[in-house]
Amino acid sequence: MAEYTSILVERNQRVGIVTLNRPKELNALNFQLVSELADALEEFDRDEAIGCIILTGAGEKAFAAGADIKEMADKSPVDMMLGGFDSWARIRKIHKPLIAAVNGYALGGGCELAMHCDLIIATENARFGQPEILIGVIPGAGGTQRLARTLGKYRTMEIVLTGSPISAKELESLGLVNHVVPQGELLNEALKLAHKIASQAPIATRLAKESVLAAFETSLEEGLAIELKNFFLLFSTEDMREGMRAFIEKRQANFQGK
Ligand code: CAA
Repeated sequence: MAEYTSILVERNQRVGIVTLNRPKELNALNFQLVSELADALEEFDRDEAIGCIILTGAGEKAFAAGADIKEMADKSPVDMMLGGFDSWARIRKIHKPLIAAVNGYALGGGCELAMHCDLIIATENARFGQPEILIGVIPGAGGTQRLARTLGKYRTMEIVLTGSPISAKELESLGLVNHVVPQGELLNEALKLAHKIASQAPIATRLAKESVLAAFETSLEEGLAIELKNFFLLFSTEDMREGMRAFIEKRQANFQGK
């Protein structure tokens, strides 16, 4: 693993864990951190020993309180464009399932980072929101789009136009948070889910993620075609033979990622 200054990286069996590690700044996402995050996620993505990745924030208070306002305050549009915003596109392209384990604030870019993940687990005290409007901008890492696609127009408008925070419980009821858990249980619960996902056939997992994401980026017709091609493709894998044979022989499948 490379040397990082703004994140911590560890492994728990087949699960990679990346912790945003600027707790004094509530894990505010400066360009350095987001670039390191993309590097670490890509490194785990290439690693066959890893099947699922958890993303969380250091400290009690925050997953991430947004892009680093102090870093951005004097920037020009060109500074912003050249500053490293493409790290977000790299995060979007990670093939392995990402689980956001959200403690405390997930605001602005922090909320958007959680929404880059494929599942979101949050503590009871977690607060999500897109407060950019309060500092004279709008979300820039997908917030308007991902919220609207999940919550619909009206709730999204309220969140984006008022900047008011929204609780994990409400987002659970609206389908944006998978599970709300007690504060001390966050990592354990995230790990349980991650281990379960990491124990499945890796190629099927990758194509399952790709197929679900196609629902957000294509028409129904195209999405169905992508799903079907991926379904057919899996019939070329050894893991598919093993999975079906194991079912018939009433034993646990032993997947090899081939
Ligand atoms: N950027 C830079 N520093 C931040 C930060 C941010 N987004 N959020 C918090 N911090 C810093 C604070 O400046 C403070 O530092 P100092 O001790 O040096 O003053 C430290 O973290 C602790 O924060 P607070 O004292 O403010 O803590 P609090 O408990 O009183 O309030 C909070 C917590 C409500 C989250 C508040 O910190 C806050 O409103 N933060 C900003 C949230 C925000 O506007 N996020 C959106 C950023 S823009 C964006 O994300 C664009 C995009 O779409 C990519």
